[in-house]
Amino acid sequence: MVYRTIIPLLQSCLFLLIFSAATHATPEKALSFSIPESDISNPSLFPHISNGFIGTILNSPALYISSLFTSELEWLEAACLSISKSSNPILAEILNPGGGYELSGLCGKFDAFLKEKEIDPLEHGYGARKARLQNPFAYTLHLNGRQLTDLQVDLDVATSSATMYNDDVQLIFYASAANKNLYVNSISIRNSQEHEVVYNFSPKLNRGSDDISYTTQFQKDNSNKICKSGEVIKPEKESEDKYVSFCYTTLPSSPIRIKPGETYSEDFIFVVDRDASTDAVSRIYDDSSSNKSNSTLYAEHLKSWTAKSTGAITTKNETLNEQISSTMYALRTSLNADHPFPTSPGGTTTNGYFGLYFWDSEIWIASSLLLLNPLEAATSSHYRMSLLDKYKQFAKSNGNEGCRIVWQSGSTGNDASLAPFANLAEEHITADTAFYLRSLYYVTRDDEWLSDMKELVFCIADY
Ligand SMILES: *[C@@H]1O[C@H](CO)[C@@H](O)[C@H](O)[C@H]1NC(C)=O
Ligand SMILES: *[C@@H]1O[C@H](CO)[C@@H](O)[C@H](O)[C@H]1NC(C)=O
Ligand SMILES: *[C@@H]1O[C@H](CO)[C@@H](O)[C@H](O)[C@H]1NC(C)=O
Repeated sequence: MVYRTIIPLLQSCLFLLIFSAATHATPEKALSFSIPESDISNPSLFPHISNGFIGTILNSPALYISSLFTSELEWLEAACLSISKSSNPILAEILNPGGGYELSGLCGKFDAFLKEKEIDPLEHGYGARKARLQNPFAYTLHLNGRQLTDLQVDLDVATSSATMYNDDVQLIFYASAANKNLYVNSISIRNSQEHEVVYNFSPKLNRGSDDISYTTQFQKDNSNKICKSGEVIKPEKESEDKYVSFCYTTLPSSPIRIKPGETYSEDFIFVVDRDASTDAVSRIYDDSSSNKSNSTLYAEHLKSWTAKSTGAITTKNETLNEQISSTMYALRTSLNADHPFPTSPGGTTTNGYFGLYFWDSEIWIASSLLLLNPLEAATSSHYRMSLLDKYKQFAKSNGNEGCRIVWQSGSTGNDASLAPFANLAEEHITADTAFYLRSLYYVTRDDEWLSDMKELVFCIADY
């Protein structure tokens, strides 16, 4: 293994998850954490919200759509991955044969480095990361009082609640487990004072961290619904799948005034899909807006999340149980049975490992979910199967028969390795995928699925 590609959060529990025989059909232990007030502005502590299709970190400027990639790499970011001789001797040798370069000193000089080595990232087909969209619900609500932020694993919602004077403010965020296209922020503010209270929303506009160019944008008069469609500015090489459309509720642009004894409540809805036109997302938006009036959206989300999170692995050690519980939360929110893609080692909510798919998708992530969430665990198989021709080409280009799987790839299945030689060295991913397909079959005994996978299985065997 050249790269260590494991979700750090999951690292400590993965082996236990795989080898623990004790699975019970009891609900998971409820787990929530609060961010200490002193750390309220530290984004690394904020809850990760995802349903395996939409992913964001609460209040961070970027929102990701699983499988939407750009070839626009930030070389600074890439070079600053700790590629030092001591941390990664093999990769250091590949990037810098014979030494002579201080790799950790490459931060900010990667462009020059590539030029000197005559490496054109696009020409080689590598260089991809997940495209960023602006998080529509990243804002500051000016609160002077005590503020708490929790992640309620049992309910799959991140709540941010605050008490200011005597007001009760509650903000709830969730990526719907019932509808992969839906991300919701419900706001409720009760004024229990004897005078009017005023609140201001300040959106956190992210400077240039949007990889999409918008071709259509519409907003009906007097409506707080806005729709946009666009395409990735610099799509991944050979990608025809570069479109994205969404509709969302705009944040109040003027201060909210709440009279004594009254409650302000609003559901802000974001609906997104991989379409060139906004027609479909606009329909889902309207449907969701009519549903929200009686809390159907939230009820449906909870119902689906409960179904998805039934089954737990428990031990006699409470600390370990909490770690397993948070691991299962991270895994279950990273994959969506309605979306035929794996997830990257950094999960849906971050651009860790550039959002690319590795052997981790099958060996560490899917295998850990196999017994409790086989549908989610199976998503990688559909992704791999759809890339059969790519794998045949890759084997052929190295003078072999059958299918060879590309070490790191995005939506097109092209080699997206920063160090193309690493891809050649990482041959084991092909056998890892076969191992995963076999494990999946042993758990599900789904012959229909197996017949869909037959070609890939035989092709790997030929290799
Ligand atoms: C709205 O509610 C109906 C009935 O419960 C449901 O079929 C539909 O999927 C819901 N729409 C969304 C967008 O959740
Ligand atoms: C909730 O709203 C939907 C859509 O407006 C409607 O069809 C449904 O009957 C409502 N359910 C209840 C319990 O009021
Ligand atoms: C319980 O689990 C934690 C976390 O994995 C571990 O550090 C601790 O040693 C365990 N306690 C016992 C008694 O095994």
